[in-house]
Amino acid sequence: MKLSVRHRLRTGLRRSVIRNWVVAYRFRGVTAQDVLLATYPKSGATWLTFMLSELIWGVGEQQDIMDLRFIPTVGNQRLGVNRLPSGGWLLRTHERYRPCCKKAIYVVRDGRDVAVSLYFQIKRALGMDADFSEFLEYFLAGHFVGAGPWGRHVDEWLDSPCFQNGSGLLVRYEDMQLDARRELERCAEFLDIEATPERVESAIAAGSFDSMRKTEKRSEALVHNEKGPKISFVRKGVVGDWQNHFSAQDLERFNAAARPAMERLGYDLDEVVAPA
Ligand code: A3P
Repeated sequence: MKLSVRHRLRTGLRRSVIRNWVVAYRFRGVTAQDVLLATYPKSGATWLTFMLSELIWGVGEQQDIMDLRFIPTVGNQRLGVNRLPSGGWLLRTHERYRPCCKKAIYVVRDGRDVAVSLYFQIKRALGMDADFSEFLEYFLAGHFVGAGPWGRHVDEWLDSPCFQNGSGLLVRYEDMQLDARRELERCAEFLDIEATPERVESAIAAGSFDSMRKTEKRSEALVHNEKGPKISFVRKGVVGDWQNHFSAQDLERFNAAARPAMERLGYDLDEVVAPA
């Protein structure tokens, strides 16, 4: 796997104590009124961000793929333009649970599809030339993602007080695919937002795959400044793409590492892998 020295240094740094300090510093401004939109990378955060920004604030076409104005990432509140009606910020994060997070929407996706999606993202962003099986080793060990392995991320968020005391809402990528309306209404109720049928419709339209693809094209310079081949950020957007990339051996390795989190989330582990 050919990776640049810069990338190796960045990976090293991610794992270091310094990273913890930086993350703690970013989280210092999170208050009990704020709501976290927490996800492991590649779980559909941008899609839900698009829909919620339209649902809550009716932002229309102003929104870019990498937009931090409507739902800023933790530590970037200064870039935010709108707070929730309840007074706090809605803040995105990929980080592990931290005790300052008192209320959270946690978005999950089948870990196998997360791995495939991240594979293409790392290829695009860093020019990684590993094949999928090689990449999977790194994925399962939690390389490439500052927050570490997928299963631990899931467990920590679901075990957090947010999910023990009714201040957590679990949203599945697959459920957004099945019935985005229902998932948006659940979010609206959780956030205490009025969701008129018109607003819900326009939120679904704002987050449609085609519409987000167009938005990505508009903000091309912002999204595509990477080292690798040009692969869309809004790439495929399907459930079960892992079947096109996992070998039987990959599936075995994945299950050995991530079975508890997969079972906890109700994902079916016994599906047959399509021939490679
Ligand atoms: P794929 O790479 O499997 O296509 P995140 O925003 O958390 O980084 O997640 C990115 C994943 O969400 C990508 O998955 C991307 O294509 C998918 N996605 C983005 N917008 C989507 C949409 N409108 N509908 C369905 N999936 C979408």
